[in-house]
Amino acid sequence: VISYLNGEYLPHDRCTVHIDDRGLLFGDGLYEVWRSHHKVFFGDREHLARMRYGAEQIRLALPWSDDEIIGVAHRLQELNGLTDTLIYLQVTRGAATPRTHHFPKDARPTIFMTARAAKTTPWEERQAGVKCITLPDLRWARCDIKTVNLLPNALARQAAVENGAYDAILCRDGFVTEGGATNVYAVAGGKVHTHPKNPRVLGGITRGFILTFAAELGIPVIEEPFPREWLWTADEVFISSVSIDILPVNCIDGRPAGGGKMGPVARALYGRFHETYQGMKL
Ligand SMILES: Cc1ncc(COP(=O)(O)O)c(C=O)c1O
Repeated sequence: VISYLNGEYLPHDRCTVHIDDRGLLFGDGLYEVWRSHHKVFFGDREHLARMRYGAEQIRLALPWSDDEIIGVAHRLQELNGLTDTLIYLQVTRGAATPRTHHFPKDARPTIFMTARAAKTTPWEERQAGVKCITLPDLRWARCDIKTVNLLPNALARQAAVENGAYDAILCRDGFVTEGGATNVYAVAGGKVHTHPKNPRVLGGITRGFILTFAAELGIPVIEEPFPREWLWTADEVFISSVSIDILPVNCIDGRPAGGGKMGPVARALYGRFHETYQGMKL
């Protein structure tokens, strides 16, 4: 496996960073994940735009153009002989000694990227849906920035795994924010409800495509926080991220939810993703 680190393509095991790297010491860094279908990357510009937004918010300079970064993704795909590729990109504020909380003057950002085979959820599994649990949302007030500070998310996903669930649906003040690594939607009265894009949630790139597809299909979307209780009364509940597109939720905290399988709204929206990916075949 070949990965990319600070301008070099290296065997994955030789990609090591400095112990004073601020990504490691402070979680002072950003990341992005996107994928290709039949070698064609989907949404890469949108993912990089989100990284630039995060970089502005945390005052991190990104001295690479989108074309340069996208070029690295293509090269890694080729070097690793992949056709459906999951790209992981991380940028940190770099290494500086001695450790200080404030930004060091002389640090240069660390950039690395890995590429691995992306998994596509088999149709039967997608139709059946997944279990979730609910948990209090314990994260900070800037969840719109995709930083590598993922400890609350990691703890939530670990609790999900220990409960035989796919993800944890996070709730703040009785309202659903998002999942541990997904955005969350409830369908009620033929309308899709999802948390607005604000500092309480990550503006998922998949969420953005879902909103576009919903508009094209004439499905109304209400971007307002919805109450936790709706998780059990909604006609459909589904989650989204780049690695799953759309997955229906059939059971939450051990109680049936979302009609128990994929409903018509999730099916119609997923159909648009599927069509888009089919269109990428050479
Ligand atoms: C907290 C959180 N919300 C939502 C998402 C979904 O975002 P995207 O659709 O860009 O993958 C992710 C993805 O990692 C996430 O970590």
